Amino acid sequence: METAAHGTPDLGRVLVIIPTYDERENIESIVGRVRAAVPHVDVLVVDDNSPDGTGDLADALADGDDHVKVLHRTAKDGLGAAYIAGFGWAAEHGYDVMVEMDADGSHQPEELPRLLGALRDADLVIGSRWVPGGKVVNWPRRREVLSRGANVYARLVLSVPVHDATGGFRAFRAATLDKIGLEGVASRGYCFQIDLALRTLRQGLRVVEVPITFHERVHGQSKMSGDVIVEAAWRVARWGVEARAERFRR
Ligand code: GDD
Ligand code: MN
Repeated sequence: METAAHGTPDLGRVLVIIPTYDERENIESIVGRVRAAVPHVDVLVVDDNSPDGTGDLADALADGDDHVKVLHRTAKDGLGAAYIAGFGWAAEHGYDVMVEMDADGSHQPEELPRLLGALRDADLVIGSRWVPGGKVVNWPRRREVLSRGANVYARLVLSVPVHDATGGFRAFRAATLDKIGLEGVASRGYCFQIDLALRTLRQGLRVVEVPITFHERVHGQSKMSGDVIVEAAWRVARWGVEARAERFRR
């Protein structure tokens, strides 16, 4: 089997994009684990000028390792905006596969080979907590209720046949992102994940869920907030209304 210099067999060049905001205690460990788990893959840290100095630490990691890159942004602008910037960087630099992963250890880099393997027969692979075999470890009860509730809500309103539409451990083919067109994506916060899953499905592309084990972070804090929840709730409602109006017109 052929192995590209920076890629995994037959998928081409792979970039793992890790958005960070105040992840000083996590960044070194997560980058190290990715590098060990998938040595041919590159890592891009997208830092929103974290007050705790995560960006400087990431620069130090990049100085010591050609496979590690850093994209600095000026201010906290949400997870979705950070990923769009990261996807743009990846496209400019000729990557074939873009992976989304949290910095805080919730997603296990050791599961990356399984995610990437599933991409051979898919256009988007979602690491899923809510399919058989998927697990959450140490997540507070209220977060589990929120995540399950958000997924039930998205299924009811949007009829998305995905069990973990908000999951943030994913692999996209570059061609998938090309087709769905990121210019029109306005989602800033975590509803970005639902937005991209929906766009991928609407293009008729193949979305596959693989079970993952999600661990609650040990260091630092979640950036989940009331604003993030409110944005997700109203955007999903709006997409639902738009989809129904569209069906009515036809
Ligand atoms: N650059 C940047 N800018 N990074 C951000 C921002 C931002 O505004 N907000 C969050 N992040 C980064 C965090 O530093 C972390 O690496 C990752 O995005 C996920 O943020 P968390 O704050 O740890 O998310 P969570 O644990 O509450 O939420 C998890 O569940 C959500 C709902 O299922 C994540 O897995 C999300 O991806 C998922 O949507
Ligand atoms: Mn987290």
